[in-house]
Amino acid sequence: MTIQRLCNIADIDDPGARLFEFGDRNPDDPGDWPLSIFVVRQGDRVHAYINRCPHAGHQLNWLGERFLNRERDHILCASHGAMFAIDSGVCVAGPCPGERLVRVDLEIDAGEIAINAATLRALKARQAAMSYR
Ligand code: FES
Repeated sequence: MTIQRLCNIADIDDPGARLFEFGDRNPDDPGDWPLSIFVVRQGDRVHAYINRCPHAGHQLNWLGERFLNRERDHILCASHGAMFAIDSGVCVAGPCPGERLVRVDLEIDAGEIAINAATLRALKARQAAMSYR
């Protein structure tokens, strides 16, 4: 099984988040974007999601790797202010309550965070099937 290493948990602020993108944009298909995911750290735990908001389909971050609210206790979508629980990805405030981010399964070994190639392929297909509203 091929593994794509992301980073060490120590490379992510606590609490904080990091953005990871895979693949290139396909100039022949305007809907074919690189896969964009983000990993959030909270203490010894990490959670990862596709970088696509269930409200209007925008990427959550406008400012680099800023995915958390000011208090850094929720994931924040910069477009219209939806707030999501870090551990579940469920929207708890804003325009899409009860909807959830798409979770990304990670492999974690001795602090090293990775994702396997089959998961990456499945996520790329899942992201491509998501449409902007
Ligand atoms: S696109 Fe995220 S809150 Fe609207």
